[in-house]
Amino acid sequence: MRDIREEYQGKGLSEADLLADPVEQVRLWVEEAVNVGLPVANAMTLATVNAEGQPSARTVLMKGVEQGGFVFFSHYDSRKGDDIEASDKVAFVLYWSPMDRQITVQGRARKLDADTSRAYFKTRPYGSQISAVASPQSRPVDLETLEADVAQLRQEYPEGSDIPMPENWGGYLIVPEEIQFWQGRPNRLHDRVRYFQDEGKWLRERLAP
Ligand SMILES: Cc1cc2nc3c(=O)[nH]c(=O)nc-3n(C[C@H](O)[C@H](O)[C@H](O)COP(=O)(O)O)c2cc1C
Repeated sequence: MRDIREEYQGKGLSEADLLADPVEQVRLWVEEAVNVGLPVANAMTLATVNAEGQPSARTVLMKGVEQGGFVFFSHYDSRKGDDIEASDKVAFVLYWSPMDRQITVQGRARKLDADTSRAYFKTRPYGSQISAVASPQSRPVDLETLEADVAQLRQEYPEGSDIPMPENWGGYLIVPEEIQFWQGRPNRLHDRVRYFQDEGKWLRERLAP
């Protein structure tokens, strides 16, 4: 690993290139990553912290930029759900290697209302809806039981029927308090711009790479 040395070729990032609203700037970079055809360009590494202060991280998919924040969906009684119940402070990272770009976000997570979550749940493919009902996410499980539960649900709710969204499933909105944009440049002189909140307004500053 010590011998792996990437030379970053990004064309650089001036403050003039960035929108005043960093949430919209995140949307723009995600769209650009999608448009150049990167796989799962909306995948983000989400960190949460439990009641003992132990952080944990996992990949989730960003499903929207709305209400001034970022939306993802999950099981509310998963480990991340338990963590967010204990502390709403979260962070996430988006990284697109071929574009030499990274975004880091710190903020607070709160549940979306059930109607909004239900509206999204209905747009999920049939198999994903069934899995969301069958899976006790983050709990120990044996494969036979899980597959038997899926088979039973497929009988109970054949394709095309209305599958009720589980009560322990839904969306979260992450409201950002700090957002950093990182653009790799040659010779490790990377560009880094940090946005932070000051009396409800976004300010920004350049940070040393
Ligand atoms: C590419 C990718 C996308 C994923 N998207 C989601 C997602 O949107 N929501 C989710 O709950 N889990 C998603 N997962 C699974 C999580 O990474 C994780 O295993 C699961 O949410 C349980 O995490 P927890 O036990 O820390 O709560 C995804 C995994 C991968 C690899």
